[in-house]
Amino acid sequence: MTAKAGTIAIRGRLLSFDADPAVAGEAEAVRFIEDGIVVVRDGVIVEVGEGPVIVRRLDPGTPLVDHRPHLVLPGFIDPHLHLPQTQVVASYGTELMEWLAKYTFPEELRYGDSAVAGEAARFLFDTLAANGTTTAAVYCTTHPVSAEAFFREAERRNLRMIAGKVMMDRNAPEGLLDTAELGYEQTKELIAAWHGRGRLEVAITPRFAPTSSEAQLAAAAALAAEHPELPIQTHLSENDAEIAYVAEAFPWSKDYTDVYERYGLVRPRALFGHCIHLSERERRALAEKGASAIFCPTSNLFLGSGLYDLAASRALGLKTGIATDIGGGTSYSMLTTAAEGYKVLALNGQKWPAFEAFRMLTAGNAEAVGIEDKVGRLAPGLEADLVVLDSRATAPLRRRMERVETLAEELFALMILGDERTTVATYAAGRRIYDRYQAGHRPLAPKLDQTPLPKSAQAGESAQ
Ligand code: GUN
Ligand code: ZN
Repeated sequence: MTAKAGTIAIRGRLLSFDADPAVAGEAEAVRFIEDGIVVVRDGVIVEVGEGPVIVRRLDPGTPLVDHRPHLVLPGFIDPHLHLPQTQVVASYGTELMEWLAKYTFPEELRYGDSAVAGEAARFLFDTLAANGTTTAAVYCTTHPVSAEAFFREAERRNLRMIAGKVMMDRNAPEGLLDTAELGYEQTKELIAAWHGRGRLEVAITPRFAPTSSEAQLAAAAALAAEHPELPIQTHLSENDAEIAYVAEAFPWSKDYTDVYERYGLVRPRALFGHCIHLSERERRALAEKGASAIFCPTSNLFLGSGLYDLAASRALGLKTGIATDIGGGTSYSMLTTAAEGYKVLALNGQKWPAFEAFRMLTAGNAEAVGIEDKVGRLAPGLEADLVVLDSRATAPLRRRMERVETLAEELFALMILGDERTTVATYAAGRRIYDRYQAGHRPLAPKLDQTPLPKSAQAGESAQ
């Protein structure tokens, strides 16, 4: 018998999570197979098990990629980032509201040009793949063309992606504003054209309460009611000045969360970025309505926004995901994001074991986004989005691993010291979308920019 068309077997040290180790305990939650095989047919996982057993059963001729001794995990999921902010990352010296006005809004004005958005989407998908991220929930700009360009490129690559056109009708430059009606119409058109096409989903995306009038929030409420299955994404309780502005602009509200509750935006699959300064009432309301808080540690540190309280969210049953928040965030790597998350929690007197962190990067984020029936675990029936990680990819990692005795220790060192250099390969629906050997260890395959640096910047440059 010959191999079935579209079948591939991937061998390695398999790691996946059936439950949250913080809730179910490690024994129940952690699925680790030291020598395992994932069999993929037509982009979907059909079998997961012991390598020596499965290898004997494979049809002759089935391609087998042996990644041993590397780890094979479900691809990372990044539930909050901004397409138009890849060139805003690392902008100096401001907190949220000034950062938006000074750096972010001027940059987002460029994304009314489909070519600009398309180029950014190609860069973003290349970079996510190099970091082992296979799904992201993404804010485009107010311009529908920015979202269309994003979806076109995602479809070409057959990626599972979520994105929305930002709704924003006040407190931003004229060229970035829509209106309540336009935001509604343009989101409707995007849903009709793209939602459910391939592996794509449209998110209802009011940027945050300060940039939407009540009429626009009512339009978002109408969209949410008409499309109860759609994801929603917005920002909540990130920064003190932002929270004070919301209290002033919505004087009837009990608190910031109440504004979104009033407009029917707090529900399952609603992703609230940041959620740093929430009261107990707000946390409880989000949890009771099945919404998700998205922890963005590199952004929260970089913009000086504050420290997310995971223990408080857990105590009230509020689901938490973790995200890069490019470009308030400073790294595309979900490993680096987890490392910074660990440090934020440490400053809050909390501990975060590696098993819990890796579970959040995969199955936990899938659950926070509401795609746990599609991706996030190595299990039959789920899409074959995978990342292969080398826990000895760099000299500091190799040296540290000499003293590592358990899988938990290995994963912890990997998350603290790892970054895109640890990615060996990334698969989307069973197709390899990143290969570090082909990339020559360089995470960014696209042509290097040959533009000379300004003289002043060249002065201290070392030869590379
Ligand atoms: N709040 C509203 N818009 C943004 C944004 O683009 N980034 C961050 N970090 N917070 C926001
Ligand atoms: Zn954001």
